[in-house]
Amino acid sequence: MEQLEPTLAAIAAADTIDAVEALRVAALGKQGWVSALLKSLGGMSPEERTSTGPRIHAAREAVAAALSERRAALESAALEAKLAAETADLSLPAPAAPRGSVHPVSQVMDELAEIFADMGFAVATGPEIEDDWHNFTALNMPETHPARAMHDTFYFPDQDAQGRSMLLRTHTSPVQIRSMLSQGAPLRVIAPGRVYRSDSDATHTPMFHQIEGLVIDKGIHLGHLKWTLETFLKAFFEREDIVLRLRPSYFPFTEPSVEVDVGYTLVNGKRVVGGSGDAANGGWMEVLGSGMVNRKVIEFGGLDPNEWQGFAFGTGVDRLAMLKYGMDDLRAFFDGDVRWLAHYGFGALDVPTLSAGVGVPVGVRA
Ligand code: PHE
Repeated sequence: MEQLEPTLAAIAAADTIDAVEALRVAALGKQGWVSALLKSLGGMSPEERTSTGPRIHAAREAVAAALSERRAALESAALEAKLAAETADLSLPAPAAPRGSVHPVSQVMDELAEIFADMGFAVATGPEIEDDWHNFTALNMPETHPARAMHDTFYFPDQDAQGRSMLLRTHTSPVQIRSMLSQGAPLRVIAPGRVYRSDSDATHTPMFHQIEGLVIDKGIHLGHLKWTLETFLKAFFEREDIVLRLRPSYFPFTEPSVEVDVGYTLVNGKRVVGGSGDAANGGWMEVLGSGMVNRKVIEFGGLDPNEWQGFAFGTGVDRLAMLKYGMDDLRAFFDGDVRWLAHYGFGALDVPTLSAGVGVPVGVRA
């Protein structure tokens, strides 16, 4: 037991956690002196054990208590040292005006998600590298369908494991199929995202953005489609005098198909969305493709078209941004010119909401 005092002294003097641990092993470890004493109890006579036993146990408790006390003291000293070294000066001034801005495409997508969330639509996504079954076949465009040729598709040289041609999706409509297959019905989704077509001029870029809408439920008809698009366009352009004109059209995946024009008014020679296109200083411009989901597409989506009906629509996000915020060259959207972004970008903290209104581009602020 003569080791007790030196051990306690050594523990009190230990100046690192490792030194404390070494002392623990030397005393309480398997080969430690306290453990050896405890083992010796077995060979003692009952009288000897009654007198020595409590002293050995007391020594063990004393060593264990000293060890944990010293360890705690060293740990808190280490924490103090770390806190002292890592000072944060809370009196420093806040950074000047935040730098960077939100791209109009992101801004408009956020606005659209907010507007449609209010009508009960969730956001769905699909891959930009698609197969021709989802992009064409399941949308009622079999291999020989002439509409395939009109899409100016970028194909990959190789096919996938199922022998399907791989391509960059030419529209967001394949997300209709993916949503029906993965979520079933009823369904209310929008699918914003990048799409690709081999096309390039002032109003076309090889990559652009679309947003798809899909509603599948029972008893859905064209009236639901018209109300939804009217409500959406009024919220998006933030004016009540939005007048729609629905024209019969053709898409393989909708039947009937409807192209939607919105009335515009000429203000200083510029087209501003709002008012009747038939007014003296007005006109119509096409903003959306839409229609009732074709029965065949509902079947490809794994649903029974006798039970489920729906409508779908699709439009260009970049075009919506240009119409609302007044840019006239689409190519500038993707040039990455910081001067353009400083002018047309949106403040990062101005999250669009229906209640507070949407943002004003940074460069256009009063
Ligand atoms: N996918 C069509 C296009 O890219 C738009 C559309 C979507 C039309 C949904 C009808 C229904 O032009």
